[in-house]
Amino acid sequence: MKNTFGYSIAVTLFGESHGESIGAVIDGLAPGLEVNREYIAHMLTLRRPEGKISTPRKEKDEFRIVSGVINDRTTGTPITILIPNENVKSGDYSQIKTTARPSHADYTAECKYHGWQDSRGGGHFSGRITAALVAAGAVCRYALEQKGIRIGTHIKRCAGVSDREFGDLPADIASVNARTFAVLDEAQGEAMREAILAAASEGDSVGGILETVITGMPAGVGEPWFDTVESMLSHLMLASPAVKGIEFGAGFAIADMRGSMANDPMRMENGQVVTVTNNNGGINGGITNGMPILFRTVIKPTPTIFKPQDTIDFKTRTDAVLEPKGRHDPAIIHRARVVQDAAAAIVLCDALAMRYGTDWLGENK
Ligand SMILES: Cc1cc2nc3c(=O)[nH]c(=O)nc-3n(C[C@H](O)[C@H](O)[C@H](O)COP(=O)(O)O)c2cc1C
Repeated sequence: MKNTFGYSIAVTLFGESHGESIGAVIDGLAPGLEVNREYIAHMLTLRRPEGKISTPRKEKDEFRIVSGVINDRTTGTPITILIPNENVKSGDYSQIKTTARPSHADYTAECKYHGWQDSRGGGHFSGRITAALVAAGAVCRYALEQKGIRIGTHIKRCAGVSDREFGDLPADIASVNARTFAVLDEAQGEAMREAILAAASEGDSVGGILETVITGMPAGVGEPWFDTVESMLSHLMLASPAVKGIEFGAGFAIADMRGSMANDPMRMENGQVVTVTNNNGGINGGITNGMPILFRTVIKPTPTIFKPQDTIDFKTRTDAVLEPKGRHDPAIIHRARVVQDAAAAIVLCDALAMRYGTDWLGENK
């Protein structure tokens, strides 16, 4: 299933950056779930470019739900969401038809699709397709919220500037979800914005780290060996464009800890099992333990930059120098954060449906 993820709940993405529409099909969601169009629109707003720290390509992202929903409730059959592409300038991309942008997918797409790929605007490999993922994820995320499961992602680091750590989780999740630039410390956010603008003014780009926390997940969800919550989250995070790594809980820093420091001591609190620390990120043996799920991803700097770069022309198989035109994000990270939330929501819905059955998310028990 090349463009489809999931088992009990599956999401298929389709479309190209400069094609007529992009979209998503969500199959397997419970019947009777509320589909809140304002909520979906809000999530799409969080992905939309913002000022000079983003691409000048502005899309309205006016979506249509063309199947699977009646009177704002799911029917239980596949939901198809269509988002038209309106603001396209394909002429800017004539150069990259045969000249590969280093670290983008132009050359690898040529190798796989033998020249039949739609290269306009990066085609199927454009960040634009993530709007469809965000819309599908918003349907899932809204259903999770009705079950008390909350997702929040902040820009932990951008261009070498760090945000503060997560603290009071309910307040911090609410705070980042209300911001277009998702930081916990606004002053650090300002410093990040300045660093993005400084790179952009030199025709360059920057990357960073996103950190996601999920609260309210019941203990006991996950399917060892191969569909553990860690492996499913990793699958969808690494499938997202520009994500180059993921770590859970204490992450790679756990390498330097002793067991006595790395282990999360357990105790009873108001009749609930809790751990005192959360170095394992809320997952043991691939199964949720009831503590917040915590993970971080690395987002690379935007590959298309406006400095001359050595590359190749893959038709003539000669060396070339590329000075791209077009409209690009000097940083992806602030827009990728809601993509990460959406991807997490799809994974959690799938894992919950595998554990408790499709109807668990709905009102049909
Ligand atoms: C929200 C979002 C926006 C993006 N914008 C751009 C962009 O303007 N220019 C660009 O070259 N890449 C952009 N990307 C990244 C490319 O889509 C991605 O690097 C490319 O498909 C290659 O995939 P890889 O980085 O995972 O190897 C964006 C990604 C996301 C998630």
